[in-house]
This record gives sequence, C-alpha cells and structure tokens, in this order.
Amino acid sequence: MGSMVRIVTGFAVVCSLTLGGALTSAADSAFKYIGASKCKTCHKKELIGDQYGKWEKAGHASAFKTLLGEKAISVAKEKGISGPPSEAAECLKCHATAAGLGPNDVEKKPLDNKDGVQCESCHGPGSGYKKKKVMADHEKSLAAGLVMPDEKTCTKCHNDTSPTWTGFDYAEAKKKIDHSIPKDVKGKYIEVEKAKKAEGK
Ligand code: HEC
Ligand code: HEC
Ligand code: HEC
Ligand code: HEC
Repeated sequence: MGSMVRIVTGFAVVCSLTLGGALTSAADSAFKYIGASKCKTCHKKELIGDQYGKWEKAGHASAFKTLLGEKAISVAKEKGISGPPSEAAECLKCHATAAGLGPNDVEKKPLDNKDGVQCESCHGPGSGYKKKKVMADHEKSLAAGLVMPDEKTCTKCHNDTSPTWTGFDYAEAKKKIDHSIPKDVKGKYIEVEKAKKAEGK
C-alpha cells in the first residue's frame, strides 16, 4: 500500500512537471518575432538614436552574407559540411535569427535568413512590446517580453563552438555595437518628440 502511494505520487509529480513544461513553452511563444523592419519604423529616427542604422552598419546585419564568402566555404569544408554554409543549419543557427523560427514563432511574415542576426536575437521577440506606449515604459516593456541583453545573451553565439572563435571581451564588444538612445531623450522620447512637433521641427 505504502509503495502504491509512492508510485501514484511519483506519477503525479511527473505529470505536473510535463504540464509545467508545456505551460512554460506556451508562455514563451506568447511573444512572436516581428523582424527588424518593424523596429525600423521608430528606431531609424535620428532623434531616438538611429539604432536601426547602427545595426545595419555593424556586423550582425551582414552575418548571413558572411556565410556566402570564400572563408565561410572553407570553414564549412573543414567541418565536413557538404552543401553551402548559407544553407547549413549548423552555421545558420548563429548567423541568422530567422533560422531557428517556425511558423508559430512569428507574428505575420516569416523572418528572412538574409537579414542576419536581427534585433530580436538580443532583445527578445517584439510582438508584445512594439507599441510606443509600452516601449516608453521600461517595466511594461520587460513584462511584454523585452530583454535588456547582458553577457549571457552574447555568449549564446560568441562561444568556442563558433568555428572561427578567437575569444570574446564583453565590455569591448558591447562598445563596438553601441546604439544608445541620446541622454537628453532617454526615458522621455514621446514628450521630446511632441515638443519638437509643436515647435514645427
Ligand atoms: C544569434 C547569435 C549572436 C548573438 C546573440 C550575438 N552575436 Fe555578435 N556576432 C554574431 C555573428 C554571427 C557575428 C559575425 C558577423 C559577421 O561579420 O558576419 C557577430 C559579430 C559581432 C561583433 C563584430 C562585428 C561588429 O558588429 O562590430 C561584435 C562586436 C559582436 N558580435 C558583439 C556582440 C555582443 C556585445 C552581443 C551581446 C549583446 C552579441 N554580439 C550577440 C552572432 C551573435
Ligand atoms: C555558436 C555560434 C556560431 C556557429 C555555430 C557558427 N558561427 Fe560563424 N561566427 C560566429 C560569431 C560569434 C562570429 C564572429 C566572431 C568570431 O569569429 O568568433 C562568427 C564569424 C564567422 C566568420 C567570419 C570570421 C572572420 O574572421 O572573418 C565566418 C567566415 C563564419 N563565422 C563562418 C561560419 C560557418 C561556415 C559556420 C558553420 C560551419 C559557422 N560560422 C557557425 C558564431 C557562430
Ligand atoms: C547583438 C545584440 C544586439 C542586437 C542585434 C541589437 N541590440 Fe539593442 N542593445 C544591445 C545591448 C547589449 C544594449 C545595451 C543594454 C544595456 O546597456 O543594458 C542594447 C540597447 C538597446 C536600446 C536602449 C539604448 C539605451 O540607451 O538605453 C535600444 C533602443 C535598442 N538596443 C534597440 C535595438 C534595435 C532597434 C535593434 C535592431 C535594429 C537592436 N537594438 C539590435 C544588444 C543588441
Ligand atoms: C512604435 C514605435 C516603436 C517600435 C515599433 C519599436 N520601438 Fe523600441 N522604443 C520606442 C520608444 C518610443 C522607446 C522609448 C525611448 C525612451 O523614451 O527612452 C523605445 C525603447 C526601446 C528600448 C529601450 C527600452 C528600455 O526600457 O530601456 C529597446 C531595447 C527597444 N526599444 C528595442 C526595440 C526593438 C528590438 C524593436 C523591434 C522588435 C522596437 N524597439 C520597436 C519605440 C518603438
């Protein structure tokens, strides 16, 4: 009888763990990927700091293009990959945000491998936080899925499983991709924008 109770309890624990797991992934997928072109609407503006333009110019936006180059082809050969690296899941997983996403992970249009490592690889899927009023409120943004990246965000890709790995200095790397909001605007963008419009600028 005692052992029966234990088995039943054990079964219940397994059930609740399984259910727990399912709930967690459902909660994760509540937020969908929208793609950098959607962030561009607001984050290409000079007033907010043109994060989109900075991303476009730095390496992440062209991470897919890198897979089309000579070096990538020889790196892939060394790894025993037979087809082109631009089609190899083993390479795409770090070189393109789109690569890891299924139809249920995106809001409307699927993301494109060609857009490389996009905003949401670091900031989390944007469907929940993309509205201006949400974005302007730090706590609300976090609750709606926004990630403020830290070193762990980077080392998902910048680690020794990268075939061209030469090390990673977080402080240096963060400086290189800096796309800060200007100090006089940070936290009050909507007001500043309104004031500018009222002045007719
Ligand atoms: C989804 C994978 C991924 C994540 C996450 C990621 N990176 Fe990268 N990063 C890459 C790839 C791939 C390249 C190579 C791009 C190229 O040149 O093709 C790269 C290149 C870079 C470069 C050199 C090119 C440049 O833009 O100047 C820096 C610096 C960098 N990453 C910093 C970071 C930092 C800081 C983080 C975390 C906040 C981070 N990365 C997160 C994949 C990633
Ligand atoms: C674990 C994540 C990861 C995987 C998997 C990965 N890369 Fe990368 N790749 C990076 C990062 C991060 C960088 C930029 C920094 C570096 O070189 O480590 C990069 C840079 C590169 C570069 C530019 C290096 C240079 O010196 O110019 C090439 C080429 C490249 N990767 C090819 C590939 C190929 C081909 C594959 C598949 C066989 C692949 N990568 C798989 C993360 C990855
Ligand atoms: C490789 C990772 C990575 C990518 C890609 C990336 N960001 Fe960021 N972003 C960061 C990091 C790191 C910070 C600084 C976080 C901090 O200081 O705590 C940041 C901060 C920001 C900030 C806040 C700046 C401030 O002054 O508070 C904005 C806005 C932003 N990113 C927008 C974007 C947009 C829009 C894109 C795409 C066009 C993008 N980011 C792509 C890593 C990334
Ligand atoms: C409708 C306009 C709009 C869109 C679309 C948008 N943002 Fe924002 N974003 C803002 C505004 C406004 C702020 C707040 C600026 C301020 O007052 O500091 C902001 C702030 C941020 C911050 C800093 C948040 C904080 O609390 O420190 C990040 C990071 C960010 N956006 C990333 C993104 C990313 C990534 C996307 C696309 C997935 C995106 N945004 C789409 C308008 C937008």
